[in-house]
Amino acid sequence: MPTKKSFFNILLFALLTFAFVVSLASADTACILTPKPSDAPQINGPEVFGVRPQNPFLFTIPATGKRPMRFSVQNLPKGLSIEENTGHITGSIEQEGDCNVTLQAGNEMGTAKKTLKIKVGDTIALTPPMGWNSWNCWGCAVDDQKIRAAADAMVSTGLINHGWSYINIDDCWQCGENKREPDTGEIQTNEKFPDMKALCDYVHSKGLKIGLYTDCGTMTCGGYEGSKGHESQDIMTYAKWGFDYVKIDWCHTEGMQPRRAYKKFGDAIGKAPRDIVFSICNWGEQKPWMWGKSLGGNLWRTTGDITDTWDSMSGIGFSQDELYKFAKPGHWNDPDMLVVGRVGWGPNLHQTKLTPDEQYTHISLWCLLSSPLLLGCDLTQLDDFTMNLLTNDEVLAINQDRLGKGAKPVVINQLPGGESTQIWVKYLQDGAKAVGLFNLTDEKKQVYVNWERLDIKGKHKVRDLWRQKDLGLFERSFKTEVNPHGVEMIKISAQSG
Ligand code: GLA
Repeated sequence: MPTKKSFFNILLFALLTFAFVVSLASADTACILTPKPSDAPQINGPEVFGVRPQNPFLFTIPATGKRPMRFSVQNLPKGLSIEENTGHITGSIEQEGDCNVTLQAGNEMGTAKKTLKIKVGDTIALTPPMGWNSWNCWGCAVDDQKIRAAADAMVSTGLINHGWSYINIDDCWQCGENKREPDTGEIQTNEKFPDMKALCDYVHSKGLKIGLYTDCGTMTCGGYEGSKGHESQDIMTYAKWGFDYVKIDWCHTEGMQPRRAYKKFGDAIGKAPRDIVFSICNWGEQKPWMWGKSLGGNLWRTTGDITDTWDSMSGIGFSQDELYKFAKPGHWNDPDMLVVGRVGWGPNLHQTKLTPDEQYTHISLWCLLSSPLLLGCDLTQLDDFTMNLLTNDEVLAINQDRLGKGAKPVVINQLPGGESTQIWVKYLQDGAKAVGLFNLTDEKKQVYVNWERLDIKGKHKVRDLWRQKDLGLFERSFKTEVNPHGVEMIKISAQSG
């Protein structure tokens, strides 16, 4: 029988737990900065889209607003058609050249329009790829069902309406080492992926694209069959299955030259009968930013693997200061995938260890850097904070800006103890500048930027991008208080703009 005292203790414990959970929940809600999208239609996503002639075309119009929604396109090139209920545009375009189309999305509240430039030519991934990858989430516990669930959730959560469009399978889908099809040498899947073509068809039917993973060496990092000696054959197999993206890793490559090894994949991808985004993943060895583009690389990892800690994320993100020169439409620096939401690298997931402020820093910096945005969390378990963090269209527009510039630091204030505040700037297509005022210290700090540092003069409009709020006109400088490990992300435009 519990005594009176132990009963009291249990009650006290229950009350304290309840108070703790409530305080956590409200802290979480208090960190939500971005207003919800309105019911009126708004078209998000890139302003430019690259495709190779004659290859299959898939673009889903990303639009927020109340459903049902009707989609249409003015001036759609010959060979393409649109599904009016979903906004999926499919088909193929015969000839090279540029074409401006007007996307339209309408609902009971009105109609939104947006111009999209379709560039039919050699270069794809004209803006950084946005999507999901299985690694930071499931690691080797990935399977067909989890990929389908991620695709379903990308649509049902509404992430697709903000431009998130790739579902990428990482390591551990292949057969064991040397277990290729004996007669043809064709790569085989393991039992967790019974039918890759059916899986690709399923993901495409949702208006999404799908990616895969391989390795230049004899084995992948997870110990499965690699592509060495089968580079072109493997790319053709992925194309036959229907993949739109391939990440190529660098484990088990003793004695191999990255440039030579990746060229084989680049050449094969150039000949494939569909557009395949080419992701070089050799962790920055031998500076892939110097040669990745010449092999047809659309993105190249610049560092080792990220984890969900401040040291890892900030160490990677803030060390990208010299690489802005190499980012351009079709060719991106890749400081690794995102570590927000529920991550785990295996069957057991946990909430990211980054604080809300650190997560704002993570997304802001990756958007300013024009980095690919690949979510590494379970899309079926998105909490309100994470969802809000990933659906701010003004912040995502900085990442997707069609000028394709990388950000560079213009002020680094070194403080005693090795800590700093930093100001990073990205030039935008419309002449404005996106600016991140970062506080890397453990205390609140005033962060200050003088217009001279930004090469501007006179009155300028300042907009807070996370809160989607105009802050007014500023004549010489801008100053604000920034949370520890946090950021203020602003857009600065000429007064008339
Ligand atoms: C390497 C890559 C990771 C992931 C794993 C898979 O570590 O850098 O991104 O693909 O391999 O084994």
